[in-house]
Amino acid sequence: MVTSQALSPNGPKVSQIVFGTWRLLDNDETPATHDVIKLLELCLELGITTIDTAEIYGLYTVEAALGKAFKDQPGLRDQFQIISKCGIDVPSQVKKSAVLPHYNSSADNLITCTEKSLRLLNIDHLDVLLVHRPDWFTSADDTASGLDQLIKDGKILHAGVSNYNPHQFDLLNDRVAQKLVTNQIEFNLLHMDPLEDGSLSQCERQHIRPMAWSPLGGGRLFDQDNEAGLRIRKCIDDMRHKYDDIDDAALALAWILAHPSQPRVILGTTQGKRIHSSSLAANIQLDRQDWYALWQAAKGQSVP
Ligand SMILES: NC(=O)c1ccc[n+]([C@@H]2O[C@H](COP(=O)([O-])OP(=O)(O)OC[C@H]3O[C@@H](n4cnc5c(N)ncnc54)[C@H](OP(=O)(O)O)[C@@H]3O)[C@@H](O)[C@H]2O)c1
Repeated sequence: MVTSQALSPNGPKVSQIVFGTWRLLDNDETPATHDVIKLLELCLELGITTIDTAEIYGLYTVEAALGKAFKDQPGLRDQFQIISKCGIDVPSQVKKSAVLPHYNSSADNLITCTEKSLRLLNIDHLDVLLVHRPDWFTSADDTASGLDQLIKDGKILHAGVSNYNPHQFDLLNDRVAQKLVTNQIEFNLLHMDPLEDGSLSQCERQHIRPMAWSPLGGGRLFDQDNEAGLRIRKCIDDMRHKYDDIDDAALALAWILAHPSQPRVILGTTQGKRIHSSSLAANIQLDRQDWYALWQAAKGQSVP
């Protein structure tokens, strides 16, 4: 069973495994609302009580699909922690003024976008708002004032960031009134940079749980021509019998969960069967040498 823990000393309780919604409309741009509700109810049954979304997902359409589900099923929203992100503007019907993709984490834009997200999601507050990407053109003071205002107005309960390096995180964290509660970063067996670039160490130092996006490398772990993926899956095959014979995806997720910073894993699949099998990762305690065997398989070399 998936359990929940505080994201940070001042943060909300968030489940170890989070339902990611980036790909929610990939196979069907207009899914029946009862199908979305069914997926959300399955998540709750498994202990997955946190949803990760973003203004830009589905080119600004995913939040509305979730909002229809919350409207049609009263009480559903209150069973979840909802995390959304904003600050990426790409040319589209929604962002008519954008002539090229760019970032905008100015206070004005954060406030406008969050108010729109709340309307589309049919909710009155977000549990956490994340600044989606570092915006090199906006000062930390400007971004911080937008986050502070949103918290003051009760539109978001907490603020965090995504894809920030440790220096960018420290700078913004110095300027906000209420400490940032997470950094959502890419971390998986095919992208292990956070082990060494300071992101995970910084979270551990501050007792902040990071959130790991693309935990299966966006599905690349299963590509037949991905050599590291093939080595990892062979390694998983050799150790699977020790871990209740769970599937490749679940063991790869257990590898992330085992890091001492206790990352939250954000699932990418929207298939009920895979959500269920992936949730079994929460039951697995990876043995030290098996964790290193997977590191070694991913790198194609022994530890130095
Ligand atoms: N903050 C950021 O900048 C950022 C960036 C990217 C993503 N995210 C968040 O992270 C979430 C997860 O990212 P992701 O979608 O790239 O995650 P992922 O789990 O690494 O990749 C999911 C993809 O892998 C495929 N897949 C293939 N075999 C699978 C198997 N056996 N089990 C499970 N999946 C398998 C899935 O296909 P099926 O759908 O057919 O199962 C899906 O296309 C997103 O939904 C979003 O919430 C955040």
